[in-house]
Amino acid sequence: MTKNENADRVRGPELQLATTLDKADTALVIGLIAPDKSEDGAEPTLSITDGILDDAQAEAIAAAVRALGASGSHGEITRLPAPAGLTVDLVVAVGLGSADDLDNADKIRQAAGIAARELEGITQAATTLSAVNLGAAAEGFFLGAYRFDTFRTDKTAPKKSLPTTITLLVEDKGRDAKAELAHAVAVADSVAIARDFVNTPPSHLYPEEFAERARYLGSAAGLGVEVLDDKALEKGGYGGIIGVGKGSSRLPRLVRLTHQGKKGAKKVALVGKGITFDTGGISIKPAANMDHMTSDMGGAAAVIAAVILAARLDLDVTVIATVPMAENMPSGTAQRPGDVLTQYGGTTVEVLNTDAEGRLILADAIVRAGEDEPDYLIDTATLTGAQMVALGARTPGVMGTDEFRDRVAALSAEVGENAWAMPLPAELRGDLKSRVADLANVTNHRNGGMLSAGLFLKEFVPESVGWVHIDIAGPAFNTGGAWGYTPKGGTGVPVRTIARVLEDIADNG
Ligand code: BES
Ligand code: ZN
Ligand code: MN
Repeated sequence: MTKNENADRVRGPELQLATTLDKADTALVIGLIAPDKSEDGAEPTLSITDGILDDAQAEAIAAAVRALGASGSHGEITRLPAPAGLTVDLVVAVGLGSADDLDNADKIRQAAGIAARELEGITQAATTLSAVNLGAAAEGFFLGAYRFDTFRTDKTAPKKSLPTTITLLVEDKGRDAKAELAHAVAVADSVAIARDFVNTPPSHLYPEEFAERARYLGSAAGLGVEVLDDKALEKGGYGGIIGVGKGSSRLPRLVRLTHQGKKGAKKVALVGKGITFDTGGISIKPAANMDHMTSDMGGAAAVIAAVILAARLDLDVTVIATVPMAENMPSGTAQRPGDVLTQYGGTTVEVLNTDAEGRLILADAIVRAGEDEPDYLIDTATLTGAQMVALGARTPGVMGTDEFRDRVAALSAEVGENAWAMPLPAELRGDLKSRVADLANVTNHRNGGMLSAGLFLKEFVPESVGWVHIDIAGPAFNTGGAWGYTPKGGTGVPVRTIARVLEDIADNG
């Protein structure tokens, strides 16, 4: 596989607007609303079809799904042959839950994602979910239909593909609808860029290659691109990135991608952890599930995708992504537990555990990002197993300066990524004191592991910057089955949170 093949691949279905079914649509996805529980014997009803289906068609579908016993509970799938008079062959009804849930964009997004995965073998499908919420339906179908088969030959490639085109039915396909669809496609495609990076195995995605792919995609989006190689990092004094990277034959990189807003625009620094594989180094990890550490560049993938998205949406905010990339390996040249390194900017750190490597590469990148004097700094990383102990596999932890942290958590809930505000308790800071250096990279206990990692990073964040650290150890990589619009493997979290925050900063400062 060449890198351009990967970067230029089509990452999702084509999405088109229409007011009536297209002849090429062979399936129709409709929404089903659960009846109010207080009403005895009430039946589920179709979500809005006005102007899209005529009354007789809508009533025929409703009667058929009721006869099949559908309830309309969220995510329920009912498949039926299309009633006479419809040009499609198949109708797929997806439950949307109660009528109150229709205002919840993520419920629509999740339902669309579930429906998308039901369309194997269909080349073109239409949906009425777009009449409820166009943007959410578009994102859900695109994200739900995502597949990553780059490394499958004909021996195991899926026999039935998902639709290459989805027709989004709306009452009015005017300018507002076109803009809403274009926004959704830009967002979803950027999420898919992040997923592709996470899903690409460490054999194929190592720091040098990761940097080249970021350069390729960044240049194509019109970003400013700068790549520091291992020699430049050594010369520049990036002791954290060098220290972590020196156990590997694949040498580290630091990538900087810039989207320029208009004069006077706010400036946002993004920093993402780019460990292309984390063995733990000399403090080596157990063998079980070590392969999951292919996802340890999920933060880097997300910030690269987010700055590309800022350019695609032409957001009026300056965004500078600073992305450290290294492979954490044990070898004769690896750093040792007990080594002291000097971070970019001069702080010395005693490396008590080489598996707490993410904070070492992030500290260099955060100090470098701070030199640009940003108004806000967002870092994100698959940083601690403790994130999953605290919040589970799907809920990112967000720490930082109080006001900005709460703002980011609220915006994350809006897009359905649901990052949850966590504290940085001052009393834990003392546990990062070192016998020999300014700081130790770990505490000598397991309590509050996500928070002590956050406190470590805080040491490198400039005063007076609105800062958040988003720990995505669990949420970046789905090790269970597909759910909603989230496939197995790379999820693209927290691209949509960062995107929403950038938009909010562009609008409100
Ligand atoms: N990349 C891991 C964190 C991680 C664990 C991500 C599981 C995704 C799933 C990180 O580099 C790490 O190893 N953290 C250590 C820190 C500890 C040594 C203080 C951890 O969480 O065990
Ligand atoms: Zn790691
Ligand atoms: Mn580690």
